[in-house]
Amino acid sequence: MITTACVGFTVTSPAAADKGEVYLRANAPVQARVQDLLKRMTLDEKVGQLEQIAVNRLLGDCTWSGGDFNEACMKQVLADEATGSILSGGGMGPKSNTPKDWAIMINTVQRYALEHSRLRVPIVYGVDAVHGHNNVLGATIFPHQIGLGAAWNPALTGATAESTQRAVAATGATWNFAPVADLARDQRWGRYYETYSEDPLLAGENAAAAVRGLENGRSGRKVASSVKHFAGYSEPSNGHDRVPGDMSMRYLQDTILPSYKAAVDAGALTVMVNSGAVNGVPAHASHYLLTDVLRNQWRFKGVVISDWNDVLSLQRAYHVVNDYPGAIAAAVNAGVDMAMLPPDDRTFHASAVDAVKRGLISQKRLDEAVGRVLWLKFTLGLFEHPYVDESKADAAVLGTDKDLARKAATESMVLLRNTGGVLPLAAGKRIVVTGPSADSMANQTGGWTIGWQGIPAGVTVPGTTIAQGLKAGAPAGTDVAYVPDGAEAVNRAKSADAVVVVVGEKPGAEGESDSPRPELAADQQQLVASLQATGVPVVLVVVSGRPLVLGAAGNTAGLLAAWLPGTEGGNAVADLLYGKANPSGRLPVSWPKNLGNEPMYYQQLPGTNGGPDSGYSPAFAFGAGLSYTSYTIGNLTANRSQIRPGDTVGVDVTVANTGSRAGDLVVPVYVSQPVSAVLVPAKRLVAFTRVTLAPGQSRTVHLTFPASRLAVTPGDVNGAGAPRVEAGSYQLSAGDSTATFTVR
Ligand code: NOJ
Repeated sequence: MITTACVGFTVTSPAAADKGEVYLRANAPVQARVQDLLKRMTLDEKVGQLEQIAVNRLLGDCTWSGGDFNEACMKQVLADEATGSILSGGGMGPKSNTPKDWAIMINTVQRYALEHSRLRVPIVYGVDAVHGHNNVLGATIFPHQIGLGAAWNPALTGATAESTQRAVAATGATWNFAPVADLARDQRWGRYYETYSEDPLLAGENAAAAVRGLENGRSGRKVASSVKHFAGYSEPSNGHDRVPGDMSMRYLQDTILPSYKAAVDAGALTVMVNSGAVNGVPAHASHYLLTDVLRNQWRFKGVVISDWNDVLSLQRAYHVVNDYPGAIAAAVNAGVDMAMLPPDDRTFHASAVDAVKRGLISQKRLDEAVGRVLWLKFTLGLFEHPYVDESKADAAVLGTDKDLARKAATESMVLLRNTGGVLPLAAGKRIVVTGPSADSMANQTGGWTIGWQGIPAGVTVPGTTIAQGLKAGAPAGTDVAYVPDGAEAVNRAKSADAVVVVVGEKPGAEGESDSPRPELAADQQQLVASLQATGVPVVLVVVSGRPLVLGAAGNTAGLLAAWLPGTEGGNAVADLLYGKANPSGRLPVSWPKNLGNEPMYYQQLPGTNGGPDSGYSPAFAFGAGLSYTSYTIGNLTANRSQIRPGDTVGVDVTVANTGSRAGDLVVPVYVSQPVSAVLVPAKRLVAFTRVTLAPGQSRTVHLTFPASRLAVTPGDVNGAGAPRVEAGSYQLSAGDSTATFTVR
């Protein structure tokens, strides 16, 4: 056994002993290095580069046990199979789980790999750092993507991504499986909270900002992002994760693909494939998605990685091939460059070698896939800087960027109701705080936090819960009592001035988090109703990864959607409820009022339907959100009345803060088409910005968007050609103000 603790640290670069090989020359062009290395590699060594194996394969019983490194397994994986990449999926960290131990763990793997690699090819280590470096104890946890989407502030998303890059890089990992560019359309889907929005533009702009933040973060080692899950993963037909989805080419092209494209265009080095099937074809076997669209249309140059065990799924789950070599060939020939493998996979390597020997995968395609993986490693600088400085990891990760996390959480929360001005809570009052999510770090951080399904029992994550935040942040003279027991809280409420009840969902991830009934649990609805019955004003704070149908809890005086705000969530809620901060989040999704209306999104197409709830009739619409001040949005003008499909449209809007508090206003600009040859939504978001306005301040803001954003797939029900901007008239709207233009 190798214990991580006894492995020393060195920064000696393997390339230091430059023997003149081109691939070892740091200053040689990357493609020359790739070609030089490729020609030296054996088939076995090449196949190794197609593999990414879960770190558990190197530990304990070499499957799932975890524990110390096991040299026999390290040898099989890193020496015999020359595996190109190792990953820690959700929850796969070192036992002590400090940043330093992560760095030691990753250095240990890297050292073993390099010392047993004939050509000294480093591994690239991947992690799921989807809201901060969330597997690591003591790392600052940002809001999940759905909350960042609610901030309508891609620059903020970019800043959280840069912070994540710094943390990930400091622990030695150089590949982050983020961001998620899928859409939030079906409230039942367990991964709804991992997306930014139901809207393609809002999701795409945030995903692009995250890619730039992760990859251009300037601290320490370079980190690759991975745009996932390409494509159409958010559309399982019955809302259950990974159930096959069916979508027309029109919906795929016009609605589903743009957010991934935005993230790819932002320079993403890697893309992860959708585990599901689209239109009867598993995405992992889709040459159309992985090659025709991604490579040929979008010119993506990076690495395509499979999702977990999904190459084997082509045989075992989808039955589109009858053996593993066939599955590997199907995936690789469709465009997969690397397979993500669970620790119990023992046959990928031999099967891939077999597939090449049988001619199922051509030498050319093999070299292309391996070349891309090597390109990634050269691009990341791993040949020159394979190791991380373990001694710096703790300081670079523990408790860093808390202010940013607090700001992100504050900007993400959406005030949905404020009857009678119950908020901000006046100082000097008695406030009862209760509810199952009031003092739960696990609930407010959600899935993918320390554990895959969220914080495991018995693990304490530093941060501020909502009850703690409300106590610590209370203005002088305000008396805050946290009363965990519901019945007692109802009793105590009778003599209080206001009640804050914090409800929501338990953490979860992937299929475990699916909810066929995305509503507030009955006992929580009952608690809220009982508190309401006291007659004392009730402020409901919903901590959830999706909009929950609120039922009997649906008419409280105050209502704040807090999403999954992370470790600073408690301070953010306090800042907003006490009025230290002015609410500025806007719904990035639609909030259904009744169960059974899923999927629900504002871009529902027009129809002849007329039954109750059959149209778009949410409790709170996409874009909804209140503030403690008042605004006007008006005088919308387009910079020209006639445009061509290739033009950029400029728009001016005058915004004003007509109230008495400073605030941030989100300004969305929508387009509608009075007449269109194929159905288009009643409105589509085409541009947005966020403006800070002092009380009484008025400003004209300028926004632009490419007219190509208006393109739709033409044709009959089998329409499949390239999206086109239809000629005709269009109407822009912002607030109550409209402007028209014509496309020629
Ligand atoms: C499966 C998930 O679908 C994906 O998002 C994640 O990155 C990988 N597992 C690795 O944990």
